[in-house]
Amino acid sequence: MLKLDHIQKSFDGVPVLRDITLQVEDGEIVSILGPSGCGKTTLLNLILGIVEADNGTISYNGEDLTHMAMEKRGFNIVFQDYALFPNLNVYQNITYGLRNKPNISSKEEVEDLIDLLGLREHLTKRVDQLSGGQKQRVALARTMVMKPRILLLDEPLSALDGVIKESIKDRIKTIAREYHLTTIIVTHDPEEALTLSDRVLIIDKGNISQYAKPEEIVHQPKNDFVRKFILNQLEIKRNNIYALFGDMTQLAATM
Ligand SMILES: Nc1ncnc2c1ncn2[C@@H]1O[C@H](COP(=O)(O)OP(=O)(O)O)[C@@H](O)[C@H]1O
Ligand SMILES: [Mg+2]
Repeated sequence: MLKLDHIQKSFDGVPVLRDITLQVEDGEIVSILGPSGCGKTTLLNLILGIVEADNGTISYNGEDLTHMAMEKRGFNIVFQDYALFPNLNVYQNITYGLRNKPNISSKEEVEDLIDLLGLREHLTKRVDQLSGGQKQRVALARTMVMKPRILLLDEPLSALDGVIKESIKDRIKTIAREYHLTTIIVTHDPEEALTLSDRVLIIDKGNISQYAKPEEIVHQPKNDFVRKFILNQLEIKRNNIYALFGDMTQLAATM
């Protein structure tokens, strides 16, 4: 279990995270949801270990990580911009982390991930020949071969849309379930957070606004921020479609 206790973080005297206390259970998928600039990436970086908290503690399965170096924590992140190596092909990107630590994943495990993420036909392609969704899958595979104890994803779907987005979402879920992998995903999109995760952590002005299962957030929003800024976005989307086309069930019936 990952535990954050009274975490505080300021940049240049400006508080970004004011008082964050939360627990993430093993194998759980948790989304961190909030508007741009609210401190989501900072929170992810704190867990990863590339940003240190001003106050508070982080522990994993009872072990204090607060001042532990990033490499020793055994967590891994997929960055927002994928950060793939443009001069290497897909297979070389996926196995890059194994070059000095070949025992972490066996050849079979690497092959399984390649198939699970649908990358077999792309292995010899250069990264710049790939679509956004394909790059995202390579970034996921590259991180997964290192067998992280916790998988951190910073806005993994925000550069994707439509069917591709849904397909990556499914793959993230499949990986998390199949590997019983604790997965923490940053997003600014309520729909993404509510459909992808076991629990959603909503951040407002550096504090936790609500941390609950998706159905609880929808049916029992804890405060005005959750109601107005999270749930209203979904309502507006639905109403826009309705205003233009009417009842969507009629639309579906004609297809
Ligand atoms: N290394 C840093 N130095 C100074 N300010 C930072 C740094 N990292 C983030 N910030 C500031 O902290 C706030 C939260 O940033 P961030 O965590 O990236 O937000 P989000 O990911 O929710 O969009 C922003 O105002 C940002 O400018
Ligand atoms: Mg961010």
